[in-house]
Amino acid sequence: MAVIAVIGGQWGDEGKGRVVDLLAEKVDMVVRFSGGDNAGHTVIGPHGEFRLHLVPSGIFYPQVTCIIGNGVAINPASLLGEINELQRHGVDTSRLVISDRAHVIMPYHTLLDGLEEERRGGRALGTTRRGIGPVFADKVSRLGIRAGDLLNKDGFLSRLESILEFKNAILTKVYEVSPLPLEEIYQQYCRYGERLAPFIRETTYMLHDALRTGKLILLEGAQGTLLDPDFGTYPYVTSSSPLAASGSLGTGIGPMQIGHVVGVFKAYSTRVGQGPMPTELKDEVGELIREKAHEYGATTGRPRRCGWFDAVASRFSVQVNGFTEIALTHLDIFDAFPSVRICTSYRFADKVLDSFPGDVEMLEKCQPVYEELAGWQGPISEIRNFDELPAEARHYVARLEEITCCPVGLVSVGPKREQVIKARSMLPQ
Ligand code: IMO
Ligand code: MG
Repeated sequence: MAVIAVIGGQWGDEGKGRVVDLLAEKVDMVVRFSGGDNAGHTVIGPHGEFRLHLVPSGIFYPQVTCIIGNGVAINPASLLGEINELQRHGVDTSRLVISDRAHVIMPYHTLLDGLEEERRGGRALGTTRRGIGPVFADKVSRLGIRAGDLLNKDGFLSRLESILEFKNAILTKVYEVSPLPLEEIYQQYCRYGERLAPFIRETTYMLHDALRTGKLILLEGAQGTLLDPDFGTYPYVTSSSPLAASGSLGTGIGPMQIGHVVGVFKAYSTRVGQGPMPTELKDEVGELIREKAHEYGATTGRPRRCGWFDAVASRFSVQVNGFTEIALTHLDIFDAFPSVRICTSYRFADKVLDSFPGDVEMLEKCQPVYEELAGWQGPISEIRNFDELPAEARHYVARLEEITCCPVGLVSVGPKREQVIKARSMLPQ
C-alpha cells in the first residue's frame, strides 16, 4: 500500500515528528494535511535539533518531496522564517511544495484568536494564539484567502478589501479595538506571495502522479485525536481535524489508498492548554515526568500537564482512526519508576465507564481507575531489540496492546533517530 498516515493518538506532542523522520527514510513524499503553525514537531537528526511548525518532517532527507497540503493553514511569516532557518543550517528546501488551495493566516486571524481568548476569561481554551480557530472558521464561512490568491495581485486586493471591511467592523464594534490597515496588509502579503511563489502549486495531481508511478507517500498528522473538533474534548479542541480521515480530505488522496495508519502515543499522557484530562497528575509524579521528558510546549513553551496512560481515551482513538499499529514513544521516561499505572476505566458517580464520554462536563467528573504494573528500574535507552527489553517493560507494552486493541509496531527509547525498537511492525521495511 502506497500511503501511510502518522497520526497523533492523544492530545498532541506524542512524537509525530520523530516517527515521521524515522519512516521518511523509506518514502518519496511527506505531506502535512491539517493544522498550521500551532504544531511543533521536534526532529533530532544529523543537522541538529529542529522544531518544525509547518515544514513537513521529511525535509532532512534529500530524496523526499515535502508538501504542505490543501488542508493546512499557512502563516507566511512563520513559514518563511522556518525556511530561512533550515537553509541557514544547510538543509535543502528546494523540494518543498505548498498547495495553492492551502488557506493563509492573516493578521486579523491572530489578533482575533487573542481577543477571543481574552473575552472567554476564565473559560479560555488555552489556544496557541496562532489564529487557527479564526482561519478555519473563515475557510468554512467562505471568507478565506488561499495561497494561490497571493499570486494574483488584483484579485487578491479586491477580495482582501471586502473581507477586511467586515473584519474591521468586528474589531471596532465588537471588540472595540483599532481597525487594521488595508494597504499595509496588502503590500506585506504581496511580498510574502512573491517569496513563496516558487513553492506554490497545484498538489493533488502531483500526489496522484506519484501514486501512479509507485511512489510511497507519508501523511504527517498534526495535533492529536483528542483535540479533534468532533471526537475530542469539545470545545477544548483545535479547529481542523487531526484524524486519519482528514489525511484524505487535506490532500485529495482517496481513503482507500491509505493502507497503514500509525497512531503515535506517548507511554504516558500530556496535554497543553485547557480542557479535561482524567489521568492528570498534579503531584510530584507528574512533575517528575515533566522534568525527565522536558514536557514544555515546542510552540508556546508552556509546561505540559502530565499523567498516566489513559487507555479509555486511547482505545477510542484507535477506533476513530482505524489505527493499524501504534508507535509508542518515550518509554524510557519510566526507567526509574518503581511501578507504572494504566487507566483502564473511569468512575463516574456510581458507574464504571469503559468508553470515552462525548460530554466534556461528564469527562471533567470522571475519576481514573488504575491498574498498577511493576516498573523495570533500569536504563533501556541503549536497547535496540524488543526481546532484550526488561520483562516488566515488555509486559507494559503488551498490556497497552491488549487494552487498546492495537499492536505496537515501534517503541522509542530516547530522542535520537537511532533510539528506536522495531517490534513486529507491519509497515514496509
Ligand atoms: P502538535 O502537532 C499539543 C492545543 C492548544 C489548545 C488547543 C487549541 O505539536 O502535536 P489552537 O491554537 O489549535 O486553536 O489551540 O489545541 N494544540 C496543541 N497541543 N500539540 C499540538 O500540536 C497542538 N496544537 C494545538 O494547546 O489547547
Ligand atoms: Mg507539539
